[in-house]
Amino acid sequence: MLVDIGTVYIPSSTKIVLLGSGELGREIAIECIRLGLEVFALDKYPNAPAMQVAQHSLIIDMTDEVELLDVIHKIQPHYIVPEIEAIATKALVELEQEGYCVVSNASAIQLTMNREGIRSLANRLDLPTSKFEFADSLNSLKEAVQKVGVPCVIKPMMSSSGKGQSVLHDLQNIEECWEIAIQEGRIKSNKVIVEEWIDFDYEITLLTVRHGQSTSFCELIGHIQKDGDYQISWQPQKMSDSAKQKAIQIAQLMTDALGGNGVFGVELFVKGDNVWFNEVSPRPHDTGLVTLISQNLSQFALHVRAILGLPIPNIEQLGPSASHAVLVSGVRTILFIKTLIKY
Ligand SMILES: Nc1ncnc2c1ncn2[C@@H]1O[C@H](COP(=O)(O)OP(=O)(O)OP(=O)(O)O)[C@@H](O)[C@H]1O
Ligand SMILES: [Mg+2]
Repeated sequence: MLVDIGTVYIPSSTKIVLLGSGELGREIAIECIRLGLEVFALDKYPNAPAMQVAQHSLIIDMTDEVELLDVIHKIQPHYIVPEIEAIATKALVELEQEGYCVVSNASAIQLTMNREGIRSLANRLDLPTSKFEFADSLNSLKEAVQKVGVPCVIKPMMSSSGKGQSVLHDLQNIEECWEIAIQEGRIKSNKVIVEEWIDFDYEITLLTVRHGQSTSFCELIGHIQKDGDYQISWQPQKMSDSAKQKAIQIAQLMTDALGGNGVFGVELFVKGDNVWFNEVSPRPHDTGLVTLISQNLSQFALHVRAILGLPIPNIEQLGPSASHAVLVSGVRTILFIKTLIKY
Protein backbone atom coordinates (compact mmCIF):
# COMPACT_ATOMS: atom_id res chain seq x y z
CA MET A 1 0.00 0.00 0.00
CA LEU A 2 1.44 3.37 -0.99
CA VAL A 3 0.32 6.55 0.79
CA ASP A 4 1.91 9.76 -0.44
CA ILE A 5 2.34 12.18 2.48
CA GLY A 6 4.86 14.72 1.12
CA THR A 7 6.78 17.25 3.21
CA VAL A 8 5.36 19.91 5.53
CA TYR A 9 5.61 23.62 4.64
CA ILE A 10 6.09 22.97 0.92
CA PRO A 11 3.39 22.47 -1.71
CA SER A 12 3.69 18.66 -1.64
CA SER A 13 2.50 18.45 1.99
CA THR A 14 -0.67 16.67 3.06
CA LYS A 15 -2.83 19.23 4.80
CA ILE A 16 -5.37 18.45 7.47
CA VAL A 17 -7.79 20.93 9.02
CA LEU A 18 -9.03 20.27 12.54
CA LEU A 19 -12.43 21.82 13.18
CA GLY A 20 -12.17 22.20 16.94
CA SER A 21 -8.90 22.31 18.86
CA GLY A 22 -9.65 20.91 22.32
CA GLU A 23 -7.86 18.12 24.20
CA LEU A 24 -9.05 15.43 21.79
CA GLY A 25 -7.99 17.59 18.84
CA ARG A 26 -4.55 18.03 20.38
CA GLU A 27 -4.04 14.25 20.43
CA ILE A 28 -5.24 13.98 16.81
CA ALA A 29 -2.80 16.76 15.87
CA ILE A 30 0.09 14.96 17.60
CA GLU A 31 -0.65 11.75 15.67
CA CYS A 32 -0.84 13.71 12.40
CA ILE A 33 2.48 15.39 13.11
CA ARG A 34 4.12 12.03 13.91
CA LEU A 35 3.18 10.95 10.40
CA GLY A 36 4.45 14.15 8.76
CA LEU A 37 1.16 15.92 8.05
CA GLU A 38 0.67 19.69 8.05
CA VAL A 39 -2.00 20.53 10.62
CA PHE A 40 -4.25 23.61 10.73
CA ALA A 41 -5.95 23.86 14.12
CA LEU A 42 -9.14 25.95 14.09
CA ASP A 43 -11.24 27.14 17.00
CA LYS A 44 -13.06 30.22 18.26
CA TYR A 45 -10.51 31.12 20.95
CA PRO A 46 -6.72 31.55 20.95
CA ASN A 47 -4.15 29.08 22.30
CA ALA A 48 -6.59 26.16 22.31
CA PRO A 49 -4.89 22.81 23.16
CA ALA A 50 -4.46 21.60 19.54
CA MET A 51 -3.18 25.04 18.53
CA GLN A 52 -0.31 24.52 20.96
CA VAL A 53 1.04 21.67 18.83
CA ALA A 54 -0.22 22.28 15.28
CA GLN A 55 1.97 23.99 12.65
CA HIS A 56 -0.78 26.56 11.99
CA SER A 57 -3.73 27.88 13.94
CA LEU A 58 -6.67 30.08 13.07
CA ILE A 59 -9.38 31.65 15.19
CA ILE A 60 -12.71 31.48 13.39
CA ASP A 61 -16.39 31.07 14.09
CA MET A 62 -16.96 27.55 12.80
CA THR A 63 -20.73 27.96 13.03
CA ASP A 64 -20.50 30.70 10.39
CA GLU A 65 -21.00 28.96 7.04
CA VAL A 66 -19.45 31.74 4.93
CA GLU A 67 -16.38 32.13 7.15
CA LEU A 68 -15.81 28.37 7.27
CA LEU A 69 -16.10 27.99 3.48
CA ASP A 70 -13.74 30.90 2.95
CA VAL A 71 -11.05 29.51 5.27
CA ILE A 72 -11.22 26.00 3.76
CA HIS A 73 -11.02 27.39 0.22
CA LYS A 74 -7.89 29.31 1.20
CA ILE A 75 -6.16 26.35 2.89
CA GLN A 76 -7.36 23.69 0.41
CA PRO A 77 -6.78 20.79 2.82
CA HIS A 78 -6.76 17.13 1.83
CA TYR A 79 -8.78 16.22 4.92
CA ILE A 80 -11.31 18.11 7.04
CA VAL A 81 -11.57 16.52 10.49
CA PRO A 82 -14.34 17.76 12.79
CA GLU A 83 -13.50 17.47 16.49
CA ILE A 84 -16.66 19.10 17.86
CA GLU A 85 -20.36 19.18 16.98
CA ALA A 86 -20.92 22.95 16.81
CA ILE A 87 -20.00 23.41 13.14
CA ALA A 88 -21.93 24.83 10.18
CA THR A 89 -22.66 21.40 8.74
CA LYS A 90 -24.20 22.90 5.57
CA ALA A 91 -20.71 24.13 4.72
CA LEU A 92 -19.38 20.58 5.16
CA VAL A 93 -21.99 19.24 2.74
CA GLU A 94 -21.01 21.88 0.21
CA LEU A 95 -17.30 21.20 0.65
CA GLU A 96 -17.85 17.47 0.20
CA GLN A 97 -19.73 18.17 -3.02
CA GLU A 98 -16.77 20.25 -4.19
CA GLY A 99 -14.55 17.17 -3.67
CA TYR A 100 -13.06 17.79 -0.21
CA CYS A 101 -12.73 14.78 2.11
CA VAL A 102 -14.81 15.38 5.23
CA VAL A 103 -14.19 12.82 7.99
CA SER A 104 -16.03 10.53 8.29
CA ASN A 105 -18.46 12.21 5.87
CA ALA A 106 -20.74 15.26 5.92
CA SER A 107 -23.96 13.29 6.29
CA ALA A 108 -22.63 11.33 9.30
CA ILE A 109 -21.60 14.62 10.93
CA GLN A 110 -25.05 16.10 10.31
CA LEU A 111 -26.99 13.05 11.47
CA THR A 112 -25.07 12.52 14.69
CA MET A 113 -25.18 16.13 15.91
CA ASN A 114 -28.96 16.04 15.98
CA ARG A 115 -30.76 13.65 18.33
CA GLU A 116 -33.70 13.41 15.93
CA GLY A 117 -31.42 12.35 13.07
CA ILE A 118 -29.58 9.68 14.97
CA ARG A 119 -32.68 8.29 16.71
CA SER A 120 -34.49 8.02 13.37
CA LEU A 121 -31.52 6.17 11.89
CA ALA A 122 -31.35 3.84 14.91
CA ASN A 123 -35.07 3.14 14.43
CA ARG A 124 -34.64 2.38 10.75
CA LEU A 125 -31.84 -0.04 11.64
CA ASP A 126 -34.08 -1.62 14.26
CA LEU A 127 -31.54 -1.01 17.03
CA PRO A 128 -32.74 -1.26 20.63
CA THR A 129 -33.02 2.21 22.20
CA SER A 130 -34.85 3.71 25.16
CA LYS A 131 -38.48 4.58 24.35
CA PHE A 132 -38.59 8.15 23.09
CA GLU A 133 -40.89 10.91 21.90
CA PHE A 134 -40.31 14.39 20.50
CA ALA A 135 -42.09 17.54 21.70
CA ASP A 136 -42.17 21.15 20.48
CA SER A 137 -44.26 22.87 23.17
CA LEU A 138 -44.94 22.50 26.88
CA ASN A 139 -48.28 20.86 26.09
CA SER A 140 -46.84 18.34 23.67
CA LEU A 141 -44.07 17.67 26.21
CA LYS A 142 -46.72 16.72 28.77
CA GLU A 143 -48.24 14.28 26.27
CA ALA A 144 -44.80 12.89 25.40
CA VAL A 145 -43.96 12.33 29.08
CA GLN A 146 -47.24 10.51 29.57
CA LYS A 147 -46.38 8.14 26.73
CA VAL A 148 -42.78 7.53 27.86
CA GLY A 149 -43.48 7.48 31.63
CA VAL A 150 -41.43 8.80 34.56
CA PRO A 151 -38.60 8.90 35.36
CA CYS A 152 -37.53 10.13 31.95
CA VAL A 153 -34.74 12.29 30.52
CA ILE A 154 -35.53 15.52 28.68
CA LYS A 155 -32.82 16.76 26.30
CA PRO A 156 -32.44 19.52 23.72
CA MET A 157 -32.21 18.31 20.12
CA MET A 158 -28.67 19.58 19.84
CA SER A 159 -26.32 19.68 22.81
CA SER A 160 -23.39 17.81 24.26
CA SER A 161 -21.77 17.10 27.64
CA GLY A 162 -25.20 16.87 29.23
CA LYS A 163 -26.07 20.54 28.56
CA GLY A 164 -29.78 21.28 28.82
CA GLN A 165 -30.51 17.76 30.02
CA SER A 166 -32.62 16.93 33.05
CA VAL A 167 -34.22 13.90 34.62
CA LEU A 168 -37.92 14.27 35.32
CA HIS A 169 -39.12 12.29 38.36
CA ASP A 170 -42.24 14.24 39.11
CA LEU A 171 -44.67 15.84 36.64
CA GLN A 172 -44.75 18.93 38.85
CA ASN A 173 -41.24 19.81 37.64
CA ILE A 174 -41.98 19.52 33.93
CA GLU A 175 -41.98 23.25 33.25
CA GLU A 176 -38.51 23.65 34.76
CA CYS A 177 -37.16 20.77 32.60
CA TRP A 178 -38.74 22.34 29.50
CA GLU A 179 -37.10 25.70 30.23
CA ILE A 180 -33.68 24.11 30.82
CA ALA A 181 -33.89 22.18 27.55
CA ILE A 182 -34.92 25.09 25.37
CA GLN A 183 -32.57 27.59 27.00
CA GLU A 184 -29.42 25.47 27.10
CA GLY A 185 -29.50 23.77 23.70
CA ARG A 186 -26.78 24.66 21.20
CA ILE A 187 -29.23 26.58 19.06
CA LYS A 188 -32.44 28.29 20.06
CA SER A 189 -35.13 25.72 19.31
CA ASN A 190 -38.40 24.61 20.80
CA LYS A 191 -37.88 20.98 20.03
CA VAL A 192 -36.86 18.47 22.69
CA ILE A 193 -36.60 14.71 23.06
CA VAL A 194 -38.07 12.75 25.96
CA GLU A 195 -36.30 9.48 26.64
CA GLU A 196 -37.29 6.64 28.90
CA TRP A 197 -34.91 6.42 31.86
CA ILE A 198 -32.75 3.30 31.50
CA ASP A 199 -31.71 1.89 34.85
CA PHE A 200 -28.53 0.39 33.39
CA ASP A 201 -25.92 -1.65 35.28
CA TYR A 202 -23.18 0.26 33.45
CA GLU A 203 -22.57 2.24 30.27
CA ILE A 204 -19.88 1.66 27.71
CA THR A 205 -18.23 3.14 24.65
CA LEU A 206 -17.36 0.76 21.87
CA LEU A 207 -14.66 2.43 19.77
CA THR A 208 -15.24 1.23 16.23
CA VAL A 209 -12.75 1.88 13.45
CA ARG A 210 -13.90 1.89 9.83
CA HIS A 211 -10.97 1.60 7.47
CA GLY A 212 -11.30 0.68 3.81
CA GLN A 213 -13.58 -2.34 3.58
CA SER A 214 -12.91 -3.42 7.19
CA THR A 215 -14.14 -2.60 10.66
CA SER A 216 -12.05 -3.09 13.80
CA PHE A 217 -13.30 -2.92 17.37
CA CYS A 218 -11.42 -1.83 20.48
CA GLU A 219 -11.98 -3.54 23.80
CA LEU A 220 -15.06 -2.20 25.57
CA ILE A 221 -14.61 0.95 27.64
CA GLY A 222 -16.65 1.37 30.81
CA HIS A 223 -17.28 4.89 32.08
CA ILE A 224 -18.97 7.11 34.62
CA GLN A 225 -20.67 10.38 33.63
CA LYS A 226 -21.79 12.99 36.13
CA ASP A 227 -24.49 15.45 35.04
CA GLY A 228 -23.98 14.10 31.54
CA ASP A 229 -20.25 14.80 31.58
CA TYR A 230 -17.30 12.41 31.42
CA GLN A 231 -15.54 11.65 34.70
CA ILE A 232 -13.78 8.27 34.64
CA SER A 233 -13.25 5.56 32.04
CA TRP A 234 -11.52 2.19 32.08
CA GLN A 235 -10.71 -0.55 29.65
CA PRO A 236 -11.58 -3.37 29.40
CA GLN A 237 -15.10 -3.44 30.83
CA LYS A 238 -16.10 -6.96 31.80
CA MET A 239 -19.41 -8.09 30.32
CA SER A 240 -21.18 -11.27 29.28
CA ASP A 241 -20.37 -12.80 25.88
CA SER A 242 -23.98 -12.34 24.85
CA ALA A 243 -24.04 -8.61 25.73
CA LYS A 244 -20.66 -8.14 24.03
CA GLN A 245 -21.93 -9.75 20.82
CA LYS A 246 -24.99 -7.49 20.89
CA ALA A 247 -22.81 -4.41 21.42
CA ILE A 248 -20.60 -5.32 18.46
CA GLN A 249 -23.62 -6.00 16.25
CA ILE A 250 -25.17 -2.62 17.11
CA ALA A 251 -21.86 -0.81 16.48
CA GLN A 252 -21.34 -2.60 13.17
CA LEU A 253 -24.85 -1.77 11.91
CA MET A 254 -24.70 1.85 13.01
CA THR A 255 -21.21 2.61 11.67
CA ASP A 256 -21.93 0.81 8.37
CA ALA A 257 -24.97 3.04 7.98
CA LEU A 258 -22.98 6.20 8.75
CA GLY A 259 -20.07 5.22 6.48
CA GLY A 260 -16.68 6.78 5.76
CA ASN A 261 -13.34 6.14 7.43
CA GLY A 262 -12.29 6.87 10.98
CA VAL A 263 -13.03 6.14 14.62
CA PHE A 264 -16.60 6.19 15.95
CA GLY A 265 -17.50 6.18 19.64
CA VAL A 266 -20.64 4.06 19.98
CA GLU A 267 -22.32 4.75 23.34
CA LEU A 268 -24.33 1.90 24.82
CA PHE A 269 -26.22 1.15 28.04
CA VAL A 270 -26.02 -2.38 29.47
CA LYS A 271 -28.20 -4.21 31.96
CA GLY A 272 -27.53 -7.94 32.29
CA ASP A 273 -27.59 -9.25 28.73
CA ASN A 274 -29.62 -6.30 27.43
CA VAL A 275 -27.89 -3.58 25.42
CA TRP A 276 -29.38 -0.23 24.31
CA PHE A 277 -27.91 2.14 21.77
CA ASN A 278 -27.61 5.68 23.19
CA GLU A 279 -25.71 7.78 20.62
CA VAL A 280 -22.56 7.78 18.49
CA SER A 281 -19.73 10.23 17.80
CA PRO A 282 -18.20 10.04 14.30
CA ARG A 283 -14.84 10.90 15.86
CA PRO A 284 -12.70 9.90 18.88
CA HIS A 285 -14.56 9.99 22.17
CA ASP A 286 -13.64 11.61 25.48
CA THR A 287 -14.03 8.27 27.31
CA GLY A 288 -11.51 6.87 24.78
CA LEU A 289 -8.72 8.98 26.27
CA VAL A 290 -7.87 5.87 28.25
CA THR A 291 -6.57 4.29 25.02
CA LEU A 292 -3.54 6.60 25.27
CA ILE A 293 -2.20 4.13 27.81
CA SER A 294 -4.29 0.99 27.31
CA GLN A 295 -3.62 0.15 23.65
CA ASN A 296 -0.62 -0.12 21.32
CA LEU A 297 -2.47 2.33 19.02
CA SER A 298 -4.65 4.94 20.73
CA GLN A 299 -8.03 5.98 19.31
CA PHE A 300 -6.24 9.05 17.92
CA ALA A 301 -3.59 7.00 16.11
CA LEU A 302 -6.33 4.72 14.78
CA HIS A 303 -8.40 7.69 13.59
CA VAL A 304 -5.49 9.21 11.65
CA ARG A 305 -4.42 5.86 10.17
CA ALA A 306 -7.99 5.12 9.07
CA ILE A 307 -8.34 8.59 7.50
CA LEU A 308 -5.09 8.27 5.56
CA GLY A 309 -5.76 4.69 4.47
CA LEU A 310 -2.74 3.34 6.35
CA PRO A 311 -2.78 -0.28 7.53
CA ILE A 312 -4.40 -0.99 10.88
CA PRO A 313 -2.81 -4.03 12.45
CA ASN A 314 -4.27 -5.94 15.41
CA ILE A 315 -5.19 -3.55 18.19
CA GLU A 316 -3.32 -4.82 21.26
CA GLN A 317 -4.45 -4.33 24.84
CA LEU A 318 -1.55 -3.39 27.10
CA GLY A 319 -3.30 -4.20 30.37
CA PRO A 320 -6.27 -2.97 32.41
CA SER A 321 -6.13 0.84 32.50
CA ALA A 322 -8.15 3.81 33.71
CA SER A 323 -8.28 7.56 33.12
CA HIS A 324 -9.87 10.39 35.10
CA ALA A 325 -10.86 13.88 33.98
CA VAL A 326 -9.88 16.62 36.41
CA LEU A 327 -11.90 19.79 35.88
CA VAL A 328 -9.89 22.69 37.19
CA SER A 329 -12.14 25.52 38.26
CA GLY A 330 -11.57 28.80 36.46
CA VAL A 331 -9.20 27.16 33.97
CA ARG A 332 -10.28 26.12 30.52
CA THR A 333 -8.17 22.99 30.24
CA ILE A 334 -9.07 19.55 31.45
CA LEU A 335 -6.20 17.55 32.90
CA PHE A 336 -6.17 13.84 32.37
CA ILE A 337 -4.56 11.72 35.02
CA LYS A 338 -3.65 8.41 33.52
CA THR A 339 -3.11 5.32 35.58
CA LEU A 340 -1.97 1.98 34.31
CA ILE A 341 -3.31 -0.56 36.73
CA LYS A 342 -0.91 -3.48 36.92
CA TYR A 343 -1.90 -6.91 38.16
N1 LIG B 1 -32.22 7.56 28.70
C1 LIG B 1 -31.26 7.57 29.62
N2 LIG B 1 -31.30 6.75 30.70
C2 LIG B 1 -30.32 6.79 31.63
N3 LIG B 1 -29.26 7.60 31.60
C3 LIG B 1 -29.14 8.44 30.55
C4 LIG B 1 -30.13 8.47 29.51
N4 LIG B 1 -29.76 9.39 28.60
C5 LIG B 1 -28.60 9.91 29.05
N5 LIG B 1 -28.22 9.35 30.21
C6 LIG B 1 -26.99 9.66 30.96
O1 LIG B 1 -26.54 10.97 30.59
C7 LIG B 1 -25.28 10.87 29.88
C8 LIG B 1 -25.25 11.90 28.77
O2 LIG B 1 -26.29 11.64 27.85
P1 LIG B 1 -26.07 11.73 26.28
O3 LIG B 1 -24.89 10.94 25.92
O4 LIG B 1 -27.34 11.34 25.61
O5 LIG B 1 -25.88 13.29 26.14
P2 LIG B 1 -24.80 14.24 25.52
O6 LIG B 1 -25.10 15.58 26.06
O7 LIG B 1 -24.82 14.07 24.05
O8 LIG B 1 -23.45 13.74 26.10
P3 LIG B 1 -22.02 13.66 25.41
O9 LIG B 1 -22.01 14.57 24.24
O10 LIG B 1 -21.10 14.11 26.51
O11 LIG B 1 -21.83 12.22 25.09
C9 LIG B 1 -25.20 9.43 29.40
O12 LIG B 1 -23.86 9.04 29.17
C10 LIG B 1 -25.86 8.70 30.58
O13 LIG B 1 -24.99 8.58 31.67
MG1 LIG C 1 -23.17 10.87 25.16
